[in-house]
Amino acid sequence: MRVLVIGSGGREHAVVWKLAQSPEVTKLFCAPGNGGISELAELVDIGAEDLEGLADFAEAKDIDLTVVGPEAALAKGIVDLFEKRGLRIFGPTKAAAKLESSKSFAKNLMKKYHIPTGQFAVFDDPQAARAYVRQLGVPIVVKADGLCGGKGVIVAQTLSEALGAIDLLMEDKLFKQAGERVVIEERLVGEEASILVVTDGTTAIPMVPAQDHKRLQEGDKGPNTGGMGAYAPAPVVTEAVAHQVTEHIILPTIRAMASEGSPCKGVLYAGLMLTADGPKVLEFNVRFGDPEIQAVLPLLGSDLVPLLDDAVEGRLSTTQCHWSAGSAACVVLASGGYPGDFQIGKEIRGLEAVKGRRDAIVFHAGTKRDRDRIVTWGGRVLNVVGTGADLEEALKRAYDAVGRISFDGMQYRKDIGFRALKKPVSR
Ligand code: AMP
Ligand code: GLY
Repeated sequence: MRVLVIGSGGREHAVVWKLAQSPEVTKLFCAPGNGGISELAELVDIGAEDLEGLADFAEAKDIDLTVVGPEAALAKGIVDLFEKRGLRIFGPTKAAAKLESSKSFAKNLMKKYHIPTGQFAVFDDPQAARAYVRQLGVPIVVKADGLCGGKGVIVAQTLSEALGAIDLLMEDKLFKQAGERVVIEERLVGEEASILVVTDGTTAIPMVPAQDHKRLQEGDKGPNTGGMGAYAPAPVVTEAVAHQVTEHIILPTIRAMASEGSPCKGVLYAGLMLTADGPKVLEFNVRFGDPEIQAVLPLLGSDLVPLLDDAVEGRLSTTQCHWSAGSAACVVLASGGYPGDFQIGKEIRGLEAVKGRRDAIVFHAGTKRDRDRIVTWGGRVLNVVGTGADLEEALKRAYDAVGRISFDGMQYRKDIGFRALKKPVSR
């Protein structure tokens, strides 16, 4: 099987790494890929949002299966285009991707089908949005309707923060059209978890539950980032919670999308708040979580290809998949200054010292091969993943590998998994 993976981050490196182990895969391409992916797949110089260019490539190279990493390509309709041209692709159509690309769509769907989520209202008029915030008071959450690369959510503690967020999104148009409409939402309290399933539009195969660390600083403080680390399984998701999520959130959402005429195929990722009243949806995504999947895929004991392939073919009801009993932890190494301004082109040292280890894997995010060196090429640079019999061992191995790697300005969090370490494992 000839496979094309689209994207260039740590998520795509993890997917390529897993696919490269499949006996079914004869040739792997990645567009556009990164420095680490270049060791496992042939890189193709086509951007992840050049849909026509990607479809032309898939046709010319007889690609049997295309796997899409980033949401933007899905929201632009890459699956619709590939399917129209008779090309096999794993992911949701543009209509189904609205679950992620429009928060108001997702919230209205949840309301209509009684899927647990916070109270909310949708506004196109900043005046009305301000009146609503004044009426409800703080804390309150202001969200841009459209895709903002994870930066369009403001959890406001004060009225002036909430009003400022409305100004920024709706008047100053910080995220252009994506923030012209806003969702204003009740602030939920609890611990967060990410539950990802692979679905063919009817059946859902759950992956091990994960938790990510979105904030820059230790203790989950400081500004939001694309993600500073993740671990799996997350013990806060007990068997009982997982069952509740499947029955009250995942399957009802899959059925709802099918009833609406836009079945969701590919990944359904529920970002959850585990509240005192049970799990509630913060957001849906329709692709693998980054960095969650970097911690999840090393725990997949079986082949990834049948899972993706059976989702495309609508036959997941007979698919078997096997998860290992251990844990995995992912530590993100980021450029100095990230998520603000940062420099690129810094040489990364120590990668050789970690290569070939069975208990630690380095997935590249923002890196580039520069002759015989690998240099930094983005804000989040590397994902160092440790695996072990339990989370403590996985973290020890991850941080041991981190200690061997360096580049100028490198920053990372030293407390990945801290919430889980405080809890007894109940799975
Ligand atoms: P989202 O992109 O909607 O998942 O939001 C990003 C982050 O903002 C989440 O991971 C939460 O930490 C936070 N957040 C979003 N919605 C809420 C909410 N209703 N209550 C509390 N925190 C929220
Ligand atoms: N880890 C959050 C996301 O992938 O959206």
